[in-house]
Amino acid sequence: MADTQQTIVEGVDALTLNGKLETEATATAAAASEETATTTANVEDVVDPWNVASSNDAGIDYDKLIKRFGSTKIDEELIARFVKITGKPAHHLIRRGIFFSHRDLHTILTLCEQGKPFYLYTGRGPSSESLHIGHLVPFMIAKWLQETFDVPLIIQLTDDEKSLWKDLKIEEAIKLARENAKDIIAVGFDVDKTFIFNNLEFMGKCPAMYQNIIRIQKCVTFNQVKGIFGFGDSDIIGKIGFPAAQAAPALSSTFPFIFGNRKLHCLIPCAIDQDPYFRMTRDVAPRLGFPKCALLHSTFFPALQGAKSKMSASETNSAVFLTDTPKQIKNKINKYAFSGGRTTVEEHRQLGGIPDIDVAYQLLKFFLEDDDKLEEVRLAYSKGEMLTGEIKKLAIETVTPIVVAHQAARKLITEEVLDKYFEIRALKFSS
Ligand code: TRP
Repeated sequence: MADTQQTIVEGVDALTLNGKLETEATATAAAASEETATTTANVEDVVDPWNVASSNDAGIDYDKLIKRFGSTKIDEELIARFVKITGKPAHHLIRRGIFFSHRDLHTILTLCEQGKPFYLYTGRGPSSESLHIGHLVPFMIAKWLQETFDVPLIIQLTDDEKSLWKDLKIEEAIKLARENAKDIIAVGFDVDKTFIFNNLEFMGKCPAMYQNIIRIQKCVTFNQVKGIFGFGDSDIIGKIGFPAAQAAPALSSTFPFIFGNRKLHCLIPCAIDQDPYFRMTRDVAPRLGFPKCALLHSTFFPALQGAKSKMSASETNSAVFLTDTPKQIKNKINKYAFSGGRTTVEEHRQLGGIPDIDVAYQLLKFFLEDDDKLEEVRLAYSKGEMLTGEIKKLAIETVTPIVVAHQAARKLITEEVLDKYFEIRALKFSS
């Protein structure tokens, strides 16, 4: 037992909430001091799988977060290697630093160079009926990575997680998972290379997944999950055990019908708040004879009210939903999108606006693919040549067709189409 724990804490990826190394004995103290830090001062941004908050208008300090989590910044050199290996420009979300941090991406690129296989894994916790535009981000990049590398993609819907964390009945969570899957499929995944599953139904059909969950749970103590996730003594036991369910798909043997008994590398695109799950996974995987999963982390999608918080489906006015009409989108952006503009036109013309805190500009950064146009807007807005109303208009014109196209694509996703993605089957992949 003591040996086992030793192996974990000595791993490169520290098993803690803030990414610092610690021993099991100090885990509780560390969790407690973290709590004090978030309640007493606003100096530290709060980032964990359930809370994201910053006191700064420009949002989370991501450089600090990289240090705290112990991940690596995606730099020009890595992007250049990406471009060289794939032979195409990096995705705009990577070029613009929205996917800004990683773990072991070089290992994945080396596998590509050697023509060796790997797979992609991402997921969603189905907590609401309709997704907002920010939810598209990990799936946009997953689609691009799937097409670029021609690799299989696994999408996990954690209806179990949402049922444990929210006031949500099992039956309702399952329903939401299936509804959300339609939105995900509408992003345009190749059915021959994509497997989607919801935990509450899949696990009963796939003993290999439950067996891996137990293997993972045998490797992690309560003190360690306390340190990583901040769980307390009065948290329900379902929460304490859950992280293993999000870790399991990062082991290829969870899907014997796709990967047989091959031990493949896995790349996980996700928002950085999911990193704690995968720090835990990366510590456990080698002990179970698997490679550590690689990660590609994104920043958060800002709420319309500004980057101090992220867009949230439970705050209706903070989000542009994929079900919104063009009129609703227009009204919401005009009314709520936090402006980096000045109080009067005169002042704005004189001093210029601040794109970094301007939500309309942020929307363009996520969704306007044309680099030249984006740079033109940034300059014009910073110099005060472009006004808030104008940048909002451009944001509306950029976001609306994406939402409209999404709605059209989603209409085509019938129950039969859905079943095809959920079917337990082999996937096609070249290597
Ligand atoms: N926990 C994630 C959420 O609440 C869902 C999820 C499951 C996930 N597996 C994942 C996200 C893998 C990213 C990568 O949204």
